[in-house]
Amino acid sequence: MVIGERVRLRAIEPSDGEALWRWHGDPEVMRWMNAPYPPSLARTVKQIEERAPDTYGDLQLMIDTLNGRAIGIVALREAEPETGDATLDIYLGEKDTWGQGYATDAMRVICRYGFDTMRLHRISLTVVADNTSARRVYEKVGFVEEGRRREAFRRDGKWHDKIMMGLLEGELR
Ligand SMILES: CC(C)(COP(=O)(O)OP(=O)(O)OC[C@H]1O[C@@H](n2cnc3c(N)ncnc32)[C@H](O)[C@@H]1OP(=O)(O)O)[C@@H](O)C(=O)NCCC(=O)NCCS
Repeated sequence: MVIGERVRLRAIEPSDGEALWRWHGDPEVMRWMNAPYPPSLARTVKQIEERAPDTYGDLQLMIDTLNGRAIGIVALREAEPETGDATLDIYLGEKDTWGQGYATDAMRVICRYGFDTMRLHRISLTVVADNTSARRVYEKVGFVEEGRRREAFRRDGKWHDKIMMGLLEGELR
């Protein structure tokens, strides 16, 4: 378990299945993310049960508030020892927790873990240009814009650009 000022990160349990299923079915939560086809609750629980253990290259953690409420997921994927680069994803499925600094703290905790424990050199992510709150969170902790993929995301009948961002070891704020 990895602990921050407002959240702690832990392994995902089969008992988290109901929450994940609810979050993945919520159009507001999934608005700026690649939403899977609507999953069944049974399938979601089975996927968690059958998921291989977390590894250096595929780490997915539940974000809990310090009083134990599961509120979202943060992941570091595709970490490579040769490049020291990994890709980060984050979302908070419990909408009533938005705007209270939980994602900012979870970002700091996972990035610190990536740099200190996994010895990463950089962390990469992409974000839809119109996802202003996510961009604000990433900029707050030190991510900088590194590129733009034009019209790389489609939502509500419109194309949106995606911004590529990166954080180097030593830049985390
Ligand atoms: C994006 C998300 C992770 C942010 O989580 P959060 O816990 O609400 O974020 P925080 O409270 O730590 O910080 C939000 C920041 O954005 C700001 N913000 C919120 N709405 C904003 C808006 N419309 N325009 C500009 N800034 C905005 C807040 O003021 C805050 O910045 P501040 O601390 O400088 O005031 C969360 O809303 C979420 O999971 N959304 C759905 C999934 C998603 O989009 N994930 C990211 C995919 S790349």
